[in-house]
Amino acid sequence: MALLTIICYPDIRLHTVAKPVAAVDERIDTLVADMLETMYEANGVGLAATQVDVHERLIVMDISEGRDDPLVLINPKMLWNSSETHLNEEGCLSVPGIYDSVQRHDAIKIEALDRSGNSRLIEAEGLLSVCIQHEMDHLLGKVFVEYLSPLKRNRIKTKLQKAQREGRVAKLV
Ligand code: NI
Repeated sequence: MALLTIICYPDIRLHTVAKPVAAVDERIDTLVADMLETMYEANGVGLAATQVDVHERLIVMDISEGRDDPLVLINPKMLWNSSETHLNEEGCLSVPGIYDSVQRHDAIKIEALDRSGNSRLIEAEGLLSVCIQHEMDHLLGKVFVEYLSPLKRNRIKTKLQKAQREGRVAKLV
């Protein structure tokens, strides 16, 4: 296993739209292992392949207290979402140190392949639902700060560009 570099906003690579995973093979299994290791090491609850500069539809998550219940979503597809929405505080490994509120659907229903390539239906609400929506946005090239006001977003951009210049987070391309 290997730790991967997490790219940070406002790196333009975060706006790449991911392609479907063509086959759940050994390469994907290795990528899943590396992404899980990277996510746990960074103390994150979710990581999309986009964030490690791999532009394929793959997400790893773990919202459990014990950090021992990984969830792998390959080629996730939204089947349904509730009309009720809620503001939730979010953070992102690609936007270190920044937390802000985003409106998300309360409940969702998705279909995805698991690590073995089997199709699964997942109904989610609460934190799991928020995380899945956040991570699925990454696969579309969208970072949560894009829901915030331009003023807030520019402040975040400036702050992170400074951190990148000072070498505190991964360099921009
Ligand atoms: Ni994120």
